[in-house]
Amino acid sequence: MVDYTDLGLVNTKDMFAKAIKGKYAIPGYNFNNMEQLQAIIRASVETESPVILQVSKGARNYANQTLLRYMAQGVVEYARELQKDGKVIPIALHLDHGMDFKICKSCIDMGFSSVMYDGSHHPFEKNIEISKQVVEYAHSQPHYVSVECELGVLAGVEDDVSAEKSHYTKPEEVIEFRNQTGCDSLAISIGTSHGANKFKPEQCTRNEEGILVPPPLRFDILEEIEKKLPGFPIVLHGSSSVPQEYVSIINSHGGALKDAVGIPESQLRKAIQYNVCKINIDSDGRLAMTAIVRKILAEKPSKFDPRKYLGPARDELCKMYAQKNHQVLGSAGHAWD
Ligand code: G3H
Ligand code: 13P
Ligand code: ZN
Repeated sequence: MVDYTDLGLVNTKDMFAKAIKGKYAIPGYNFNNMEQLQAIIRASVETESPVILQVSKGARNYANQTLLRYMAQGVVEYARELQKDGKVIPIALHLDHGMDFKICKSCIDMGFSSVMYDGSHHPFEKNIEISKQVVEYAHSQPHYVSVECELGVLAGVEDDVSAEKSHYTKPEEVIEFRNQTGCDSLAISIGTSHGANKFKPEQCTRNEEGILVPPPLRFDILEEIEKKLPGFPIVLHGSSSVPQEYVSIINSHGGALKDAVGIPESQLRKAIQYNVCKINIDSDGRLAMTAIVRKILAEKPSKFDPRKYLGPARDELCKMYAQKNHQVLGSAGHAWD
């Protein structure tokens, strides 16, 4: 059994309370490898932002769970080194989309400070039943582990998270769900979705340059939820913006991303004005890395040292996360709130 406080990590309770009060969102950035983790931490320290490091089941299988735990421990020390005055920005280690009690328990036992139980694929009662089981286990640890649950289904496809159609969260269900489960935060469905193709072209309009403009998020649902659960932490998944500059770099260097479209930054800023205090971003990191790697390998065919393409990809990622913390999430400067 590993206690997350021994790794220098924090849970998300305090982060969320401050974010709701300050009207900003904590970034939930996914990572699978060292370069992504370095970029996230460098950007978070540089922008003085709290951060949630997210690990999916796929990432856990890819990187190895034991290695991930030591990476998280190492990254706290790395953040301390970058900081120079001995302080460490608040860092949480979070399981993203835990699909059953077993994986949530396993992550808690390995030193995660926060887990998501995603029971959105279950009927309401079953979702409550398993969410409650995870919450009871997480909250009874020597140090409180936070639990995010999900109500409503996001559309979109990724390795382990897929749904053909979205089912928006029903505001009339949120009070009962929160009260019965005791969860610390709630992921909701208001029109975001996972991956780089968030909307079908027929759901969008096109601007003068022919670029797809997605439909707006369902702020009416978000507003209803805020009225039902005032001050309660709400989480937005599937919140990559799919920057078109990365999509065109990828496509002009041998890639084939068709009709890739994301959530405009202005929509995310607006969501934060309600109770959205955690925003999940994974695909944008994948796009930034792929764009730079493709470009370098195409332009410098003689390069074969991975540092020569992964290093610049890491720098681009760091720049992208810093821009998000400053200009989208508003978390920059809030590490010491
Ligand atoms: O929401 C899902 C995350 O983007 C993780 O995706 O299962 O491909 O690692 P993954
Ligand atoms: P994106 O695919 O939009 O980056 O969403 C990531 C996510 O929700 C992780 O849980
Ligand atoms: Zn997600």
